[in-house]
Amino acid sequence: MKGLRRLEYRGYDSAGVALLNDTLNVYKKKGKVQELVDFIEEKDTHAQIGMGHTRWATHGEPNDANAHPHYSTSERIAIIHNGIIENYAALKTHLQQQGHVFHSDTDTEVFVNLIEEIKKQNNCSLEEAVRLALHEVVGAYAIVVLSKDNPNQLIAARKGSPLVIGVGKDEFFLASDATPIIEYTNEVVYVNDYELVVIRDGKLEIRSKEDVSQTPYIQKLELELESIEKGGYEHFMLKEIFEQPRSILDSMRGRLELEAGHLNMGGVRAYEQKFVNAQRIIIVACGTSWHAGLVAEYLLEDLARIPVEVEYASEFRYRNPVISERDIVIAISQSGETADTLAAIELAKSKGATIFGICNVVGSSIARATDAGAYTHAGPEIGVASTKAFTAQVTVLTLLAMIVGHKRGTLSDVKLRELMVELSNIPSKVEQALLLDTEIKQIAEIFKDVPNFLYLGRGYNFPVALEGALKLKEISYIHAEGYPAAEMKHGPIALIDENMPVVVIATKDSSYEKVVSNIQEVKARKGRIIAVVTEGDQVIPAMAEFVIEVPATSEVLMPLVSVVPLQLLSYHIAVLRGCNVDQPRNLAKSVTVE
Ligand code: AGP
Repeated sequence: MKGLRRLEYRGYDSAGVALLNDTLNVYKKKGKVQELVDFIEEKDTHAQIGMGHTRWATHGEPNDANAHPHYSTSERIAIIHNGIIENYAALKTHLQQQGHVFHSDTDTEVFVNLIEEIKKQNNCSLEEAVRLALHEVVGAYAIVVLSKDNPNQLIAARKGSPLVIGVGKDEFFLASDATPIIEYTNEVVYVNDYELVVIRDGKLEIRSKEDVSQTPYIQKLELELESIEKGGYEHFMLKEIFEQPRSILDSMRGRLELEAGHLNMGGVRAYEQKFVNAQRIIIVACGTSWHAGLVAEYLLEDLARIPVEVEYASEFRYRNPVISERDIVIAISQSGETADTLAAIELAKSKGATIFGICNVVGSSIARATDAGAYTHAGPEIGVASTKAFTAQVTVLTLLAMIVGHKRGTLSDVKLRELMVELSNIPSKVEQALLLDTEIKQIAEIFKDVPNFLYLGRGYNFPVALEGALKLKEISYIHAEGYPAAEMKHGPIALIDENMPVVVIATKDSSYEKVVSNIQEVKARKGRIIAVVTEGDQVIPAMAEFVIEVPATSEVLMPLVSVVPLQLLSYHIAVLRGCNVDQPRNLAKSVTVE
């Protein structure tokens, strides 16, 4: 149950356990892990081996029947599964003809019955049946299988969905990530695609696709237990927002050496020449990471003068993109497990591009699939709405643009030095921005019941507008649109009336005067302006209903500061509306299905 609670941030539609003693008992319940805890209070939970699951629904609505684990028809085998089995419909028809009975709408139940059918047909071991079943399913999976007939055995496998083994003293753990394991052991083995894991009679065996036994590669994790706990904050999201001065510092630690006057990034070193000669950089990502990619487009074009395209990974993977060996693809992902981003990487790889990854989770699938990369070192992000991961990604991308720009000669020594100094001051400026918390809460009180919000920004602050709108949407369920401020008059301006709050990020930069004009356009239509401005601004306070002052910094670094009040605004609005901030409806922290 502790483990499930730790993993709950990945999906929380339903939860269940299978416990094996003399009998194989499956208990499952729609809703949060707590519902399951209450449900099993009176049940027999005595077992020496078991498995549990929290679900993010794909096939079939969230209800008790669709919750995992799923039994096979004979109820002798049980399975938990992450991912999607694409050919489940055809398999299901076939299995129904063989007499298998289904009680859910899931693809997972098909998987477990397939294993049972193969076992029966071939009269083989469970391990062999799982291995053969894996050849028949199309799609992505991380599975764990438990059988009443093999009371000392757990079988697991992965393709496309994450799976990690914890190696403890006389015990093993299997999980989607290390968070439930870390309390018991810091020794882990990351399972690779197509590998089959057998834990039997206290021993671990990993077998390759070719069915050859592998020597497990045990890695030591440096994850602190405190980093995955709330530490006195009401929500993980608030904790993570307030951690940003430190997480930004951590993301530049050892990389920005102000005194010595250099920038280092281990992952870039071997590929420096590739970056210098790159004809184009393509950035692939999803959601907030895509917004960080948009900031990087401005950074890399400004500082390094390399053309950049920023692509939604989900679109990129199904187009027929023109990619050459002189292109560099940067994949950005907090979790390092986003299925679309992973698939985009595979596509770009197959066309010969060099792949550079920017991930937060150490040992994640994307981190392992790239040619080189840099970790963001933001520490675990548990809140579903990404906050500190965004600022850490932007920090790393800024460092990258500075390194490449300097090498290419497009960023002078003087400008580089200036930016280094400014960047090293960012943690304290974010600290200052966090002092706005109480003020922002008051603004949140005023706007908490509105149905719509508009966010406007230009240049470096345009991605910040998108990110502010996304944050509000995902945790407060208020509809919000992010727009380039000048684009507003080509459509969204029609939405503006005296009821429409418009958040304008209007810090002092090269487009400041233009944004001031955009504010006038909103004001003329009676929109309610909440402006994020640079400290000491004398002009905008006269026009805006509310003004949030952030410390001044260089234009290229402003997203790191200007995003902070927007994170706080969405947080407070969501809390005031009574929303579950850390586990917003319909969402999951890492989207491991396409
Ligand atoms: C952000 O608040 C979101 N929950 C979501 O958009 C997220 O950024 C996206 O799913 C990408 O995740 P990744 O960074 O782990 O790849």
